[in-house]
Amino acid sequence: NKSLFNLDDWTKEDVNQCLNEALAFKKAEKIVNYHQEKVVANLFFEPSTRTHYSFDVAAHKLGCKTLNFNEKVSSTKKGESLYDTIKTFEALGVDAMVVRHPENEYYKTWENKIKTPILNGGDGSGNHPTQSLLDLLTIKEHFGHFEGLKVMIVGDLKYSRVAKTNMKIMQKLGMEVFGASIDELYVNGIKKANFKTDLPHMDVVMLLRYQFERFAEQENYHLDYLKNYKLTKALVETMKPNAIIMHPAPFNRGIEIDDEVVECSQSKIFDQMSNGVFVRMALINRAISDQGKQN
Ligand code: CP
Repeated sequence: NKSLFNLDDWTKEDVNQCLNEALAFKKAEKIVNYHQEKVVANLFFEPSTRTHYSFDVAAHKLGCKTLNFNEKVSSTKKGESLYDTIKTFEALGVDAMVVRHPENEYYKTWENKIKTPILNGGDGSGNHPTQSLLDLLTIKEHFGHFEGLKVMIVGDLKYSRVAKTNMKIMQKLGMEVFGASIDELYVNGIKKANFKTDLPHMDVVMLLRYQFERFAEQENYHLDYLKNYKLTKALVETMKPNAIIMHPAPFNRGIEIDDEVVECSQSKIFDQMSNGVFVRMALINRAISDQGKQN
């Protein structure tokens, strides 16, 4: 089927095709209307504002109906598993499902068992492919290309599915990706950067929320320690004038990003959110149309 769980097998061409379609939706050069004949179910087993509701808006813009599953009043409270919940929505005849779940690779034992396309809205600290694609659209709109751009991903790398997905796909696209964090939250697979002294050489600085809810009990890092990696107004002044600031949000104002930096002229944070709608339109369309990429 045409599910999207991660970007591991996506080529540069796949990325550019998706982003070009998203841009065509954004510029209203492409209009698709399913006339309420397709149903997209949003199944979020973890809190979400942006991913959930931008998928919902995207589906509506494509003329689809949506079902917004509420875990708290569902039969999961009677012990029904995630797999049986997904099989149930398939039996109900939905055309695609968006699933967010706290378990890494919640889908890994489902191969060939679910025929309905599933779009991964985030799995634990594993993958967040639709966030990466909207990040890439934001970068492409600003710079016009990916090759050679220097990106520094900062903060809670260990628990960030956004960082993990971006690290891999950005390197595949020819970007030079660096990580900057306290040693305890660093991950392998990217070059280590010095947050403050390397910042002036970066084209993109991508901040991450400290996911305190995922920290183990012993990981009670003092806020003053974490704030060594906070992007302040003074640090923004050391950045290249054309460099951009990104954050998947939600953000902890005052912890990883200064309040006044969130909406400064170099910040693309709210553009990322807007782009999420158009990328998700492209991804839903790819999943439910007859011509999408076959996985
Ligand atoms: N960026 C992101 O995934 O935000 P939500 O958790 O609000 O969906």
